[in-house]
Amino acid sequence: MKLKARLILSGIILISLLVCYLLVLLVLDMDLMTDYVDPRPVQMKSHKLCVVVPYRDRLEELHEFSPHMSTFLHNQNVSHHILIVNQTDSLRFNRASLINVGWNEADRLGCDYMVMNDVDLLPINPEVPYAFPGVGVIRHITAPEYHPKYHYDKFIGGILMLTLEDYKKLNGMSNKYWGWGLEDDEFYLRIVDSKLNLTRVSGLSTNSSNTFRHIHGPKRKRDYIPKKNDKKQWEIKRKRDHVSGLHNVRYVIDSRNLLNFSGTSVTVINVALHCDLNWTPYCKP
Ligand SMILES: *[C@@H]1O[C@H](CO)[C@@H](O)[C@H](O)[C@H]1NC(C)=O
Ligand SMILES: *[C@@H]1O[C@H](CO)[C@@H](O)[C@H](O)[C@H]1NC(C)=O
Ligand SMILES: *[C@@H]1O[C@H](CO)[C@@H](O)[C@H](O)[C@H]1NC(C)=O
Ligand SMILES: *[C@@H]1O[C@H](CO)[C@@H](O)[C@H](O)[C@H]1NC(C)=O
Ligand SMILES: *[C@@H]1O[C@H](CO)[C@@H](O)[C@H](O)[C@H]1NC(C)=O
Repeated sequence: MKLKARLILSGIILISLLVCYLLVLLVLDMDLMTDYVDPRPVQMKSHKLCVVVPYRDRLEELHEFSPHMSTFLHNQNVSHHILIVNQTDSLRFNRASLINVGWNEADRLGCDYMVMNDVDLLPINPEVPYAFPGVGVIRHITAPEYHPKYHYDKFIGGILMLTLEDYKKLNGMSNKYWGWGLEDDEFYLRIVDSKLNLTRVSGLSTNSSNTFRHIHGPKRKRDYIPKKNDKKQWEIKRKRDHVSGLHNVRYVIDSRNLLNFSGTSVTVINVALHCDLNWTPYCKP
């Protein structure tokens, strides 16, 4: 009887030792996996850019934008994919939410960096840099010095580039900006709160009149929130949004279509955004 008990005890100890040994191996292995770093120099890793274009009803501009952008990027040897995020619902235009959707699509396509690029703004100086900006760096391409129209210090609208990883770190952009404007100023506040480096493009041989071309399509009124009618709403919109962003943008993809504009293929993502009427009652026009 005593011998049997001893045998069982030794058995238990042996098995415990074995399990411990296996656990140690597993932990070491996981460590090796998380510590693995691609040893090649940065220039040799292939980066892929997704051009995210928030869009609604500007077909003439799209006809001009797509081939121009594709040629411009080819000339800089930038691998890229152009994503037109087309808002199909009847709510006010929501540029920031469309860019959040664009991030999800860019992620699916395996892009590692993105540029949010309005459809009516074309880079024309070949020096304008669209190469990988680096992790932790947010590159404002339409810097106040070069933008045709906006020159204020905190301006980060127009064309802005960053890695997908950093966009996620910022929790993307706020979803509460229905109607034109201010969503980029809120994004500026997110960047300031983060430890990321905002760098403005500088040192170009051109100036605000010949770095970018602003396409002027048929005159169309932008869907501004009526300022004087709803002063309070504007005040709310000026604050940093801590609740919404990339993680909770709500939408349905109607379809994804590959379209060809003068030989340039672009993906049009038809997306219906969802509005929470209790939170942002002003989303309806
Ligand atoms: C793009 O690649 C071509 C061919 O390899 C090279 O001649 C050219 O200098 C490159 N351009 C840029 C901007 O890197
Ligand atoms: C965008 O969506 C609208 C509404 O569904 C559609 O009529 C239009 O053709 C779409 N635009 C493009 C470029 O596909
Ligand atoms: C930002 O730039 C500063 C100064 O150039 C540098 O010390 C810091 O490491 C950069 N931070 C990131 C996240 O790249
Ligand atoms: C920009 O540069 C062009 C060409 O060098 C020059 O003709 C023009 O006056 C400049 N415009 C401004 C606003 O400095
Ligand atoms: C796009 O259309 C043009 C004709 O306009 C055709 O020559 C070209 O092959 C098409 N490209 C793609 C990628 O389908």
